[in-house]
This record gives sequence, C-alpha cells and structure tokens, in this order.
Amino acid sequence: MSTPERPVAAGSGAGGSAVGAGGWAVGAGGFSWPEPAGMRDAWCGQLRAADAGRRVRLCGWVARRRQHGEHLAFVDLRDRTGTVQCVVDGAHDLRSEYVLAVTGTVRARPEGTANPNLPTGEVEVGDCSVEILAQAEPPPFPVTDRVEADEAVRLRYRYVDLRRERMQANLALRARVNAAIRRAMERQGFIEVETPLLWTPTPEGAREFAVPSRMQPGSFYVLPQSPQIAKQLLMVSGVDRYYQIARCLRDEDLRADRQFEFTQLDAEASFVTQEDVHRFISEAVLDAAEAATGVRPPPIEKMTWADALDRYGTDKPDLRFGMELVDLTKQLAASEFRAFRAPAVKAIRVPGGGQLGRSRLDSLVERAKALGAPGLVWMRVAEGGDLDGPGAVLRHIGAGERAAVVAATGGEPGDLLLLVAGEHRTTCTVLGQLRVDLGRPPVWEGPHRYVWVVDFPLFEGIDDEGRPVAAHHPFTMPHPDDLDLLESDPLAVRSQSYDLVLNGWELGSGSIRIHRADIQSRVFSALGISAEQAESRFGFLLGAFRYGAPPHGGFAFGIDRLVALLAGEENIREVIAFPKTQSGADLMTGAPKALDARSLAELGLAIRRQ
Ligand code: AMO
Repeated sequence: MSTPERPVAAGSGAGGSAVGAGGWAVGAGGFSWPEPAGMRDAWCGQLRAADAGRRVRLCGWVARRRQHGEHLAFVDLRDRTGTVQCVVDGAHDLRSEYVLAVTGTVRARPEGTANPNLPTGEVEVGDCSVEILAQAEPPPFPVTDRVEADEAVRLRYRYVDLRRERMQANLALRARVNAAIRRAMERQGFIEVETPLLWTPTPEGAREFAVPSRMQPGSFYVLPQSPQIAKQLLMVSGVDRYYQIARCLRDEDLRADRQFEFTQLDAEASFVTQEDVHRFISEAVLDAAEAATGVRPPPIEKMTWADALDRYGTDKPDLRFGMELVDLTKQLAASEFRAFRAPAVKAIRVPGGGQLGRSRLDSLVERAKALGAPGLVWMRVAEGGDLDGPGAVLRHIGAGERAAVVAATGGEPGDLLLLVAGEHRTTCTVLGQLRVDLGRPPVWEGPHRYVWVVDFPLFEGIDDEGRPVAAHHPFTMPHPDDLDLLESDPLAVRSQSYDLVLNGWELGSGSIRIHRADIQSRVFSALGISAEQAESRFGFLLGAFRYGAPPHGGFAFGIDRLVALLAGEENIREVIAFPKTQSGADLMTGAPKALDARSLAELGLAIRRQ
C-alpha cells in the first residue's frame, strides 16, 4: 500500500480559530491569546476588519516581502499568532526573517485584494514606520508549512523550524494538554511531587542511562526510566494521591513513538481498585483531549486482553476500522485440508481486496510467514458468493464449508479473505498485523478511539532458562482469582494490570501493585529472582514495605504520544521542541560529544578505543 501523504496546512496564521496543521482548531478548548504588552500593542494574526482605523505597534519576523518598485514593499509580518500584511513606503532593506517593530494604521484592503485563506486577509497595515530590531541571514529553508524541508536540516536549525505555524500549533497544543492534565489531577486531590533524576537502577526492562559520579569515582547514578519505585515509596509515606508530569529516560532504539527522553503523566494512589485508577486517569485524558480539540470524547470503553487478542490480534487495538478477526476453527475442523485442522483457524475480510494482484498476494504470504505463521491462505469472494482461490486449497474444502466461511466472515463479492491456521496466539497476532497493514487509516484520520485493555497476563512467555518473563514489572499484583496458579501454571495467571490504547498506539500502562511480602516473594521466585538478588537490587523498596505499605496502584501515560495523536502527527518528534534523531543525535547542539581529558579524569573515567 502506498504511504498516504499528510495534508499540508492551508493558509497561514495560527490565530484565533485558525485550523492547525493537524486539522485541529488552534484556538480550541477556550484558548485565547494573551493581552499584547511590552514593545507591541497588538498581535499580527489577530487584526480583523473591525480594527480598521486603529493605530497599532506590531513586532515580528518578515515572513515574506514583495517589492513594488523602489519605494513600495508588501511585508507579511509574523508573530506567534499569525501574519498580517504591512504596506511599507520608502526605501528599506527588509529581508526574510528580519525582526521588525512596525507602527501603522489598520485599514481594509482595497477592493478585490482580500485574501480569504488568511485570517487577517481582509485588512492590511498602512502608513507604516519600520524599525529593524535585528537583521537575519537567509533562513536555511523557507519558514512555511507548504514546503517540507529535509528533516536533518530542520533539526539542525530547530529554532527556525519551530517558527513554522505547524510547529507553533503543536507546542501550544502540548502546553494546553499539560495544563489540562494538571488541572484534572489537582481537582481529584492528587499532589505533584518531583522525584530525583539522579537515581538507581530499577527493574522495569529498558536499558538505562548512567551518569558517572565525580565525588565517588567509579560509581554511577542511573537516570530514571520512570518514577515507578519513587512513587511507590511515596505511597508508603502516606502521600495517598501522587502525580507528576515526569521526564523519563530510556536508552532504547528510537522509533516514531520513542525518544530517549520523554514525558509521562505519572500517578499513583493508595487504597484504590483498578476501577478507581481508570476513573482518575480517564478524567485527565478526556480533559486533555477536550482542551486540545474542543470536543470531549465519550467515556472510555474497556476490553479484556484476551478479547483484544481474539478480535484484533493485538493488545493495542485500533478501533477506528473494522476487519475484525473471525474464528473459523469450528467451521473448518473437519476440513480435508490438513493445515486447517489446527488449534485455531482465523480469518480477516479485506473489503474490496479481491482486486489485489498475484504478486501482492504472494507478498502477503511472505509477510505472514515472516511474522511467524506456518502459511497464509487467501480466497476471493466471487460473484454469486462462492469462494475462488488457489485450487490446491479449495479442492479440499467442501461446498458446505465454503458457505460457512463466507457466512462467518460476512464476505461480499469482491472481498478478499485471508486465513491463518496454527497455534492460537500466533494465528491472532499474524492476522492482527495484516489487518493493520491493509486497513489502518493514517494517523490524522478518523475519530479518536480510546480503549482500556484490562486483565493482562502476569507473565508474557518463557525465557531461555525456562523462567516466566514479567509482562509489566515484578511488582504487579496477580489477579486474586489466579493466585493459586502462580506455581502450577504461571502463564495462566492474569494480573491486575491495564493499558490505555488510542488508535492502535499504547498510550500508557499501570497496575495494582503487590504490597504484601508473601505474594512478592512468590512472584520473585516464579521469576527466578532469589531473595538475595531482590534485596541487593531493590532492597530499599522491600525494606520500606516492612514499615507499613498501603494497598496501592497507579498508571503512567506518554504525553508525547497523546499530543502527537491529538495533533495528527505520525512521529512524536513533531511535538517535542528539541528531539533527537533516530540515531540518538541532537543535530543542533552536536550532542553526544566527547569529553575533554580533564573532565574524564575528574570523573575517574578512561575511554577504551575500539
Ligand atoms: P511504561 O513503561 O509502559 O510504564 O511507560 C508508560 C508510557 O510511557 C510512554 N513511553 C514512551 N514514550 C516515548 N518514548 C519512549 N521511549 C517511551 N517509553 C515509554 C508510553 C508508555 O505507554 N512505571 C510504569 C507505569 C506504571 O506502572 O505506573 C511505566 O513507565 O506512552
């Protein structure tokens, strides 16, 4: 499938109710611009026909300049609210991105010259006197949303890139989201506590950044991958309801939804159930969405992990589109085609997919195999409703079975059916991925569909040493009904952990934590962590629990991800002021850089050249 193009913003001027690049009203959610003050008494992007006759002083950057002869120039002046046209008489050397103060009179544009694509398009500022506050070199790329500059150049000159309307809108949207989250948490009685950035290793699964200690050469702090343990300690301290808009750091491979540094809304509460946590967090997320878009989404639905796997083949279901997995195990149980006599046979229906050519179908088969399926069977629904496809398979499937398959999948002539048979989980996950490959709308399209996925398994598989692997982290409370299975059938144990998913992206996760020493040591021993290892790695937490730990649970969601989706952006880089590249570089500052010999010596470090 070809990659859809992100729509380019129409018009310019991020003012008032203008529509931002992601399609969202920049001024949504009761947002209004501050009173102009300081060197200016009006905002460029805010001038309207009703301001005609007003004498104004504007400050901003030259977005565009058109010279008419030697003594007349049209200058589009830009500030964070948008642009306005200034008509400048006299000879001035005004170039792109010069910083100006312009004093002039607002007037209606002459008949026939209004620009309907610009919020200020009915007016211009005439009779201008101009003061150049700063000159500028030609920008490395045009400051406009209409042309997409090379990403490396954008990141190298991020301060110029951030002048663009799309980026200004994203930063403003992020600020509104943060403010709404804070208000929601405060309203619900949570208090913000800042936890340390210089921390110690914690068992949450990601690789951590280490910081050498100057005072104790050879010793290291670790930057927190999340405030997980600190917030649990705060529960022991009786803080009861904690939150933090927290910076987290993880040294992991970077992707569209991952940066080394990111921000979470992190929260924890005492004496609560899962439902309480869901309620607190839903409130913050829905408030944030409303502040961003002006529309409050409906209450967030819930789905069990098992259901999500069965119906969508993933724990991150994108509910914006159908193509749900259909179970055909029973319908094909007696099939002559041996591959279909498997623990699970499932299918997805691709509406209109019957047109896909042979080479595309072959590549789908290859993709399914690469994802771990033993194979993939495709069939087309023909005119008349029967199935059509590779004879090697269809020859072995009776008319009754074919009719049952069409009925179960709801197949219509012109549709394509994709079938996978095999072990249940693989069958589901392979079809879940094909569903996304073939049907997923682009990020900026469609409604925002939030869903809580609950009842995750406690363990997500077996490691090389035959030990279960924690699905969340080792402090997650098992489901009370499954405690008896902890030793006998660990993979069947559900946990009291939950994720929040938006349009197929994991927004966040959390759990009710283990606060009882007996259950904690059973989970540790299932994970193969000895009492001594537990004591040396997180003895400070276990020690604290001996002084009276309340039952508690919490959650954290990625603010970068939420803002990206609300802004219609495919990469969280677009909603982070100064992000890193895929290879972890900061192209603007040049970080990471070598340290000089003296700094290394002070830290007691020597670099070993490879
Ligand atoms: P988890 O590790 O699932 O849970 O992280 C929660 C959310 O943080 C965001 N996130 C990231 N965003 C951008 N870049 C990254 N590298 C990155 N890593 C994670 C995601 C993710 O869903 N302490 C637990 C929460 C808890 O149990 O309370 C935790 O951090 O949106």
